[in-house]
Amino acid sequence: MNSVRKAIIPAAGLGTRFLPATKAMPKEMLPILNKPTIQYIVEEAIQSGIEDIILVTGKNKRAIEDHFDISFELESTLLDKGKFDLLKEVKKTSNMVDIHYIRQKEPLGLGHAIWSARKFIGEEPFAVLLGDDIVQAPIPCLKQMIDLYSQYSSSIIGIQPVKDEDVSRYGIIDGNEISNRVYAVTDLIEKPSRDIAPSNLAIMGRYILTPSIFKVLAAQEPGAGGEIQLTDAISKLNKFERVYGYSFEGTRYDVGEISGFIKTTIDMALNNEGLRKEILEYITNIAKK
Ligand code: G1P
Repeated sequence: MNSVRKAIIPAAGLGTRFLPATKAMPKEMLPILNKPTIQYIVEEAIQSGIEDIILVTGKNKRAIEDHFDISFELESTLLDKGKFDLLKEVKKTSNMVDIHYIRQKEPLGLGHAIWSARKFIGEEPFAVLLGDDIVQAPIPCLKQMIDLYSQYSSSIIGIQPVKDEDVSRYGIIDGNEISNRVYAVTDLIEKPSRDIAPSNLAIMGRYILTPSIFKVLAAQEPGAGGEIQLTDAISKLNKFERVYGYSFEGTRYDVGEISGFIKTTIDMALNNEGLRKEILEYITNIAKK
């Protein structure tokens, strides 16, 4: 059995960067090729051995629940029309895993979203996957981290180096590399300016946390942007329990902003057997203009 069985996926953000597309549709449902972004995240969790997922949602998130639910009407139409491949694909989505939903009543920040799921998690270690970060890797990113957790039995944060000019967009860790890709974290700062950032190792939307984080979150004051920040809580946790940073293997895509979203779509199209040739030809041609 996996040592980490439960995962929280926060999906309560307003998706303001994608307005007006996200006015009536959750940003997690914006598709990359034929799958909504949230499905990539849920698939990574399942491939990493997660058994139960809790989605922390906000207003306007019904479409996510419908997406992972059974659609009798659609399934019987596909069956009647003999579209068996599509039927298989649609059924796969609804049979994926046990997904539970809770509402974050107020948008008070990532730390608050995680805290809202405390009763579902109870007293066991758990994973957090952020929907803006899609990772493509031969071994799923979260699986790499769960494997490491069996060795360290302590909280682990997924990190990757970023360019110096980008540090202010992320949570940044300070730490010492204690073995290949593994850092003993000495500090964490949410969205530091470039001149005070202790390193360029950025938190990339994957966490394994011990339940002690809930005690810290219960008393966590708002930080950067006036929000209750998970990074601040982990920094406090690190004062009484070891926290490790793990520079995971794989390519991380930022689908939380328009340019990153476009790049992800292009990359995934080029990695897709059925699309590669046509898209490559198209890009090569327009690049000549
Ligand atoms: C969140 C976290 C930040 C992390 C980032 C990764 O920030 O607070 O520490 O580096 O996700 O995507 P957000 O992008 O939600 O502002």
